Amino acid sequence: MADIKACIFDLDGVLVDTAGFHYRAWKKLANRLNFDFTIQDNEKLKGINRKESLELILDWGKVFKTSYEKQELAQLKNTWYVEMISGMTPVDVLPGALRLLQELKAAGYKIALGSASKNAGIILNKVELIRYFNAVVDGNVVTESKPDPQVFLKGAEMLQVSPASCVVFEDAFAGVEAAKAGGMKVVGIGSTKALAAADLVISGLHEMNIQKLRDL
Ligand code: BG6
Ligand code: MG
Repeated sequence: MADIKACIFDLDGVLVDTAGFHYRAWKKLANRLNFDFTIQDNEKLKGINRKESLELILDWGKVFKTSYEKQELAQLKNTWYVEMISGMTPVDVLPGALRLLQELKAAGYKIALGSASKNAGIILNKVELIRYFNAVVDGNVVTESKPDPQVFLKGAEMLQVSPASCVVFEDAFAGVEAAKAGGMKVVGIGSTKALAAADLVISGLHEMNIQKLRDL
């Protein structure tokens, strides 16, 4: 078994709590199209990119739009979302995330971001976590959405480590599947029921440390 050399972090729901912003922006869009969008619906969109999320939402609302209209709707949702994240500061980093990144860096682990979001760079800069990352793979770089492993495999490639020596931190079912498909270890952030395929499930990064990483 390969030694762990690198950690790849999902962003939304792992390092920062932006799921609520995504939810509010999608709900506003659905309501504008005259149907409702619940927090349970939002759960199914975790880890799914913007374009595919919109397709699912329109499907749930039984609304047909042309591809030009879809582009406009996705853009509108993003404008609202960017407005919501514009006030983010280091205070919005989830408990334990900064301490873990500092410990990993000090211990010589390589660190990458593996996120579906095209806004990842803006957020990492706003919350001042960008300096901890040796590589950033986000929605601007990948062509396939989780559960495809592309985002994490690209992270491993950029860090110049084998997939088997990477641990992925993920809160989304699709993300856990993606990491497993890439041949990586996964720490699920959330409930054991939803993330059963993960090697370890914790409620947040405040429960993680280097010893637990070595024990995986
Ligand atoms: C993921 C979120 O991290 O990024 C999804 O879990 C979101 O909810 C996706 O749709 C894409 O984000 P963005 O910022 O590019 O719209
Ligand atoms: Mg996430």
